[in-house]
Amino acid sequence: MKILITGGAGFIGSHVVRLLVNKYPEYNILNLDKLTYAGNLENLRDVENKPNYSFVRGDITEAGFINNLFAKEAFDGVIHLAAESHVDRSLENPNAFVVTNIIGTVNLLQAALKTWNGNPAKRFYHISTDEVYGSIEDGGLFTEHTSIDPQSPYSASKAGSDHFVSAFHNSYKLPVLISRCSNNYGPNHFPEKLIPLMIHNILENKPLPVYGKGENVRDWLYVEDHAKAIDAIFHKGVTGEVYNIGGNNEWKNIDLVHLLCSIMDQKLGRDQGTAAKLITYVKDRPGHDLRYAIDSSKLQSELGWSPSLTFEEGLDKTVAWYLNNKEWLDHVTSGQYLEYYKQMYTNR
Ligand code: NAD
Ligand code: TYD
Repeated sequence: MKILITGGAGFIGSHVVRLLVNKYPEYNILNLDKLTYAGNLENLRDVENKPNYSFVRGDITEAGFINNLFAKEAFDGVIHLAAESHVDRSLENPNAFVVTNIIGTVNLLQAALKTWNGNPAKRFYHISTDEVYGSIEDGGLFTEHTSIDPQSPYSASKAGSDHFVSAFHNSYKLPVLISRCSNNYGPNHFPEKLIPLMIHNILENKPLPVYGKGENVRDWLYVEDHAKAIDAIFHKGVTGEVYNIGGNNEWKNIDLVHLLCSIMDQKLGRDQGTAAKLITYVKDRPGHDLRYAIDSSKLQSELGWSPSLTFEEGLDKTVAWYLNNKEWLDHVTSGQYLEYYKQMYTNR
């Protein structure tokens, strides 16, 4: 099996690469990543020398490059994670999200279509998000049949890419899979997203910006559990189907931030309440989705996946990782290592 993983240097992608490289020594895993601000090859130091792993720096928005890569490599499957991924950035610059998330995805679909010649054994697996469903009222859960109703430029671009993936299945019988996961957290998460940003700011003694009243609800899943779900869906999922991924783990932002502050105080040997003093309510995000909550019973009953960690265990592991990897935080916030890796891989 030769598998292309796009976005493998990013947060979730690096955990997927590590899992597959270690679990399937007989596969060839090619990681294709542009190395934007969010991509970091340091995330993959422990697998970079394995014989079944290779890396190509490249941009999914360049159709010519993508077509050549597919013609040369004869992939058996694609796991597509490359994306612009941050809602706040999408509010500032929606065009970048359209180009990477929609056009980049269509380039990959086209290349797969051209080189796979209708072979039903191939698999094009698109990693999407529960945010395409929009916001849901208290008590409700997103199922795979919930209407797509994206509310931010980020989720609109992901919904657009989902529609193209489904359209390629419907129109050309391309063997596709889609999964939609809730908010992930864990090691290697770029400190622009809520949990790593708070950890970073507590370490730097900076304010902890909570948007609005902090009452928005997110459903959190440990990133390694997402990677295991991706492995299960890639191998056992039925093509043409959508699978929701989530761990029934809803938290109001403000409650989550308090829990995180308490774990940080305990791990740093500080008095309880020290980090919480940094909490600062700031202007709300425009159009801020109030609540996400996902029903993943289809994945659990049909493919036998379930989350392995409780939130408290996962958060404890996450904080411990950040405290042991302060250098990683310095590197991604300074961009210094990114430049080093970009220069190393200017050769494609
Ligand atoms: P991330 O921002 O950490 O990583 C994205 C990766 O894609 C980076 O390595 C970046 O360099 C690469 N990339 C960006 N543009 C590219 C391009 N034009 N060509 C090639 N590579 C490019 O994102 P993440 O949080 O790891 O998310 C990965 C995927 O999972 C995304 O598709 C996202 O929509 C989806 N998702 C994320 C979450 C979450 O909570 N983070 C939840 C559900 C789904
Ligand atoms: P985020 O990590 O950006 O993920 P998403 O918007 O994709 O769910 O944000 C998670 C929640 O935390 C969301 O409700 C916005 C909120 N938030 C803050 O309150 N402060 C922050 O500094 C950030 C980045 C997010």
